[in-house]
Amino acid sequence: MTQPELAPIDVTRGEYRISTDRALLDVDLIHRFLADQSYWARGIERARVVRSLEHSLCFGLYRADALIGFARVVTDYATFAFLSDVFVLPADRGRGLARWLLEVVQAHPGLQGLRRWMLVTKDAHGLYRKLGWSNPLHPERLMEISAGAKPTD
Ligand SMILES: CC(C)(COP(=O)(O)OP(=O)(O)OC[C@H]1O[C@@H](n2cnc3c(N)ncnc32)[C@H](O)[C@@H]1OP(=O)(O)O)[C@@H](O)C(=O)NCCC(=O)NCCS
Repeated sequence: MTQPELAPIDVTRGEYRISTDRALLDVDLIHRFLADQSYWARGIERARVVRSLEHSLCFGLYRADALIGFARVVTDYATFAFLSDVFVLPADRGRGLARWLLEVVQAHPGLQGLRRWMLVTKDAHGLYRKLGWSNPLHPERLMEISAGAKPTD
């Protein structure tokens, strides 16, 4: 089922381009970045990355057809979205590209009117605050199961 609000996004700014076309993604680069350079997905297997891409709304950021940034959204397109795996490669950082990428992500027609967006970050709170994010209003209501966590009595 293809809904109009899920039509592909393709926007350009100078030499940069953001696209939701999954066929354009450089899966090897995304896997390499996540496995070798991210702090949150270190060592992740390629097959797991592929599976995550297949089941997410993916935004590739490109310079001259080369992928230089990425973000993906896990969502039901109705009530909830989880933003994940956001990165810009070092050579292109500091130019407002992450901000632009996240503006495009958050403006996606299929992601409007959701009850809640969530993300997890170790140190990029300042970036997200500029885009309307804040610390949870009621952190005591949030729960999680993290890999390796054991139930407690
Ligand atoms: C975090 C990251 C995506 C930022 O990319 P970027 O393209 O350099 O960011 P931008 O240039 O768009 O920054 C936009 C604004 O956010 C601020 N900002 C960027 N990264 C920030 C950070 N880690 N903490 C606080 N503020 C940050 C910038 O200072 C800038 O502010 P300004 O608009 O007032 O000048 C990039 O550094 C990165 O890929 N880091 C490694 C992966 C990572 O940590 N991803 C986030 C996981 S939650």
